[in-house]
Amino acid sequence: MRIDVLTLFPEMFHGPLEASIVGRAQAAGILQVHLWNIRDFTDDRHRQVDDYPFGGGAGMIMKPEPVFAAVRHVLGKEKAPVLLMTPQGERFGHGLAEELAKEKRLLMLCGHYEGIDERIRESVVTQQISIGDYVLTGGELPAMVVIDAIVRFLPGALGEATAVWTDSFAEGLLEYPQYTRPRVFEGMDVPEILLSGDHQRIARWRRRESLRRTLLQRPELLAGLELSKEDRELLAAIEEELSQSSDRSD
Ligand code: ADE
Repeated sequence: MRIDVLTLFPEMFHGPLEASIVGRAQAAGILQVHLWNIRDFTDDRHRQVDDYPFGGGAGMIMKPEPVFAAVRHVLGKEKAPVLLMTPQGERFGHGLAEELAKEKRLLMLCGHYEGIDERIRESVVTQQISIGDYVLTGGELPAMVVIDAIVRFLPGALGEATAVWTDSFAEGLLEYPQYTRPRVFEGMDVPEILLSGDHQRIARWRRRESLRRTLLQRPELLAGLELSKEDRELLAAIEEELSQSSDRSD
């Protein structure tokens, strides 16, 4: 997969894109990221990328010319989704990451200042993406978040063990608790069942704990799921347990 990033701050990407799984994916040729400085596509002496808003008001607006020139230069005659990182976009999540990972090529445009000239949005951008309901200083961190989440879906980018983790999130539940050595740490034990070697019981325990965590932390995720009869029974037992413990504390 090839991702071209148009940004005013290409240097922000170096650390995150070089480390860990994203770095390995690039070294292995699974992913190519090309960083482009929008300022390099200006043709005036001051290399100006922003200007005052027509109609007045505070803040600066990204000018259309350098962005149009950059997109034309980078894509040439090729077509690819052009994603604008903006808090006004569609909310990013697991499903969108999986969808975008199917593309051969993506172009990401990182907004800055108070906004971008609307003609960029109308004529160049094909999709707008927000990583959450808060306003960051620019689209660079969101672009890195989106790249990281996409890479995990590229075949060969993750080892077997981590791929399984992805599957469990794909089911829409939160991850169950995990432990590693030592068995006892500062008086805290690892749950006995995980040491039992009984894989069926362990799987059932993990499922129950995933359901419990999801019910407690993100109950709205459960509403969107089609649960099996066994899951519904486990949930009913968890809810019963929770109501008993709250009765006891009353
Ligand atoms: N740019 C600034 N804030 C953003 C956000 N929350 N998501 C995507 N791009 C942004």
